[in-house]
Amino acid sequence: MQSFRSIVTQFENRLQTTDLFPKTPDNLYNPCKYLLNLGGKRIRPAVCLMANELFTDIYEDTWNAAIAIELFHNFTLIHDDIMDKAPLRRGHATIHAKYGITAGILGGDAMSIYAYESLAKVDRNFKDVLHVFNRTAIEVCEGQQLDMDFELRNDVSADEYIHMITLKTSVLLAASLKIGALIAHASEENCNQLYEFGENLGIAFQLQDDYLDAFGESSKLGKQQGGDIIANKKTYLHIQALNDATPDQKTEIMQWLSSKKNDAKVPAMLALFVATEADKKCRAAVSYYSQKAFDSLKNVDVEANKKEHLIYLANELLNREK
Ligand code: IPE
Ligand code: IPE
Ligand code: MG
Ligand code: MG
Ligand code: MG
Repeated sequence: MQSFRSIVTQFENRLQTTDLFPKTPDNLYNPCKYLLNLGGKRIRPAVCLMANELFTDIYEDTWNAAIAIELFHNFTLIHDDIMDKAPLRRGHATIHAKYGITAGILGGDAMSIYAYESLAKVDRNFKDVLHVFNRTAIEVCEGQQLDMDFELRNDVSADEYIHMITLKTSVLLAASLKIGALIAHASEENCNQLYEFGENLGIAFQLQDDYLDAFGESSKLGKQQGGDIIANKKTYLHIQALNDATPDQKTEIMQWLSSKKNDAKVPAMLALFVATEADKKCRAAVSYYSQKAFDSLKNVDVEANKKEHLIYLANELLNREK
């Protein structure tokens, strides 16, 4: 069994030595290479490979699936940054900000098709793998649509929020684990428990992402701090703040929602998140879903010591600063 770091190092080597894109047109492929070379945590491909390794040595198929998953993830980031009007990603200008909107739209499109090229190299259990991948890709679109719809609504419930982040974020983490297990020909029960582990870990991961967007440091995060507040995202922090606000605080929140004075809006909303203790509720929700994730991992029927690296990674993710 290998650690997350060791798997990521090998994965990075594969990415560097695989010809992912043609040379031309430069204006299409350079932006794609730019984003991929800025790094990122590589969590999804790593957990795919780690799930395979719970059962058998890592197959060539799993490396190809892992590349497909990372390409797909990067494609979603490119389009997400357009939709979220985000200036920064991984500490550098976003593709649409640096190269323009055409590069963002077409680069994302091309990256998603190349994801399928890599997935098509999978042989073992291919039909099931493709089905999980496709189902997930559709769910991410559904989640992203809900995320955007919620910007315009002020009555989003915590349950609706959890449903939305399950779709936009956690299903891809869950699918990454399941695909690794499917390629290893793990039992249906083990595949499903790993999926559940990923789903709950993904919910905790997105709650943490929202928390960091508000309270993290842009220099560590590599993203614009307060971007969610500026975009009126209905994060868990926002929903809980509204739920627990006094009438005066509620009026204040509603006023900030229609304000474009971002320099004042971000600190004011952060203060409201703290005053209503929405920040504490968000931390508690991260712990709750992490615990659920660990419970599902316990049910995966392999020797306990084999799961140690996944447990270590999950703990790292939930205490991360970027
Ligand atoms: C960002 O994912 C998108 C979310 C689902 C929150 P990551 O935080 O895994 O991004 P990278 O790949 O490490 O940059
Ligand atoms: C992104 O959620 C989810 C997907 C990319 C599908 P966010 O919009 O919160 O991700 P960041 O914060 O921009 O990375
Ligand atoms: Mg975003
Ligand atoms: Mg988004
Ligand atoms: Mg975010």
